[in-house]
Amino acid sequence: MPTATFLPGYRKAVVPSGTTILDAARAAGLPMNVVCGGQGKCGKCLVFIKDGTVSFDTEDCRRFFSNNEIASGACLACRATIVGDVRVEVPAESLIQEQKILVEIPGMKEVPLKPAVWKYEVHLTPPSLDDTTPDLARLLEGIEGQEGPPPNRIYAPLEVLRYLPQVLRRSGWHVTGTVALVPGGYRLLNVDEGDTTGRLYGAAVDLGTTTVVAYIRSLTDGRVLATASNYNRQISCGEDILSRVNFARKSGLSRLQQLAAESINESLKSASDAGGIDLEEIFEVVIAGNTVMTHLLLGIDPSYMIAEPYIPVVRRMLSTAAGRIGIAAHRNAGVYTFPAVSNFIGGDIIADILASGMADRDEVSLMVDIGTNFEAVLGNRDWMLSCAGAAGPALEGGEVLFGMRANPGAIERVRVDAGTLTPSYSTINGIRPRGICGSGLIDLIAELIRACVIDRTGQINLEIDNPRIRRGPYHPEFVVAWKKETSIGKDIVITENDIRNLIMSKAAIHGACMTLLDAAGLTPRDIGRIYFSGAFGNYLNKENAITIGLIPEVPLERVENIGNGAIAGANIALVNRERRKALDGIALRITYIELNTEPSFMDRYTSSCFLPHTDLALFPHVQ
Ligand code: FES
Repeated sequence: MPTATFLPGYRKAVVPSGTTILDAARAAGLPMNVVCGGQGKCGKCLVFIKDGTVSFDTEDCRRFFSNNEIASGACLACRATIVGDVRVEVPAESLIQEQKILVEIPGMKEVPLKPAVWKYEVHLTPPSLDDTTPDLARLLEGIEGQEGPPPNRIYAPLEVLRYLPQVLRRSGWHVTGTVALVPGGYRLLNVDEGDTTGRLYGAAVDLGTTTVVAYIRSLTDGRVLATASNYNRQISCGEDILSRVNFARKSGLSRLQQLAAESINESLKSASDAGGIDLEEIFEVVIAGNTVMTHLLLGIDPSYMIAEPYIPVVRRMLSTAAGRIGIAAHRNAGVYTFPAVSNFIGGDIIADILASGMADRDEVSLMVDIGTNFEAVLGNRDWMLSCAGAAGPALEGGEVLFGMRANPGAIERVRVDAGTLTPSYSTINGIRPRGICGSGLIDLIAELIRACVIDRTGQINLEIDNPRIRRGPYHPEFVVAWKKETSIGKDIVITENDIRNLIMSKAAIHGACMTLLDAAGLTPRDIGRIYFSGAFGNYLNKENAITIGLIPEVPLERVENIGNGAIAGANIALVNRERRKALDGIALRITYIELNTEPSFMDRYTSSCFLPHTDLALFPHVQ
């Protein structure tokens, strides 16, 4: 079989002839950028063939690469197949870049510690001819009277019964039993020798499309012992949800299930190492993920979500044993996944709602979670409306000339001096700028409005006599950083076209919020609180978000970032069984509004395609 050698690290993979370079790179452990999931549509998997034999159609490459690049061996890793031994150079930009992962929960809500798992230390009287009580009954009698579930409702599975007699006798009849609340009753998960009551742990996990975050907590006192994060390894099979579902459809479901479990395990392993915890002592794992991620983790086919009539297999909270889906915890540990409302309002949004507390209050709140897609939920303890849509990639740096994700070197904060028009900015990791990420783009537009560089349609005023304002090769542009300041050897600019794309993205979100308000017969004045969830919201300047009309105008003190709401909600459901039990009820209370079929959405969207809006009465405090 041919050997593929990848430069510059000289990683190798021996693969059958006919394997794509992308699959060979995966086999060699290289995290390639595959935005389109390997369909030849994004051009992000650029590699250079240094020597060897490969087969590909140069027409596939012409859409993305210049003749010079093709002459230097450029091709798409997903389209080129290996014929013989080959050496391939992988440029840094074709690999997934290190990204800022939001692990923190600002002002994490403390909820009463009421876990759904208990440990019982028991000293038992050994059996005798006068006392022939069977081992299990003896153990359950020992538990009798301790705080927790009634012993007569505890079910003991066969596998525990198989080792129980040895453990009881080896320990001299001094053991610790672990019991969990499971659907339909209580289950004996494990029996240890001696006293292990001080070591009872649980894990809360945010299984995102891009990243995974895990918290390990003591379930005896609620302390957070360690946190960890990493990429979702499924990225190698496609960057977005649709690519993953398509990969699953082409016999890739078990691979995606395995990758989801491995991704979670990577975080659990790092956190358990940091916290000095044995993974075998984790007895509960609560996972919040969107509807597709939850299906994939459980090995449930998500294909029908992308075909008419677009339905998931299941929406309710599910539980299974860690050992059944390959999660690195005690094999009998209960794994719980959050319920969903629809294909688009998944368990991560239910976790946001739980974390915000909006489902417990009378006042009306609006929750917005922004990424390439956005989700919005409006309501209170009695009712909730939700919707979701595509914000377009602009807020994550796509379709913006120098836009980029929140990776090192991204400009994340910007001020512009209204007199000199000189920007001051900060970058992620404080290194020389490479581009601008979403929070920086929102700052920039708000500052350019204040400095009167752009008008309400986003047009750049070329009449202003300043070297930063100029006609670019395609569109008017504003120079944010001169070439000598950057690490890419070019001026970093924002163009009028970029601003147009950003306006369309923000208009989709604002239009959706207004559609929800309309449906509820409310106005922005009725909103008691707006919550931003997710990484994007966390780094967002609230005032600038209102200035550009991303969200309805409310007093700034009513806008709150809840950070990673998915992990915050998973934490709450981990430590408090009553809150966990309420989740299905919350999901059932939420009505989903399909924006594509909601006639008022398009009007709302169009009205929002201005800075901040066509109707300035909606933004009375924006100048
Ligand atoms: Fe998109 Fe190859 S073109 S992954």
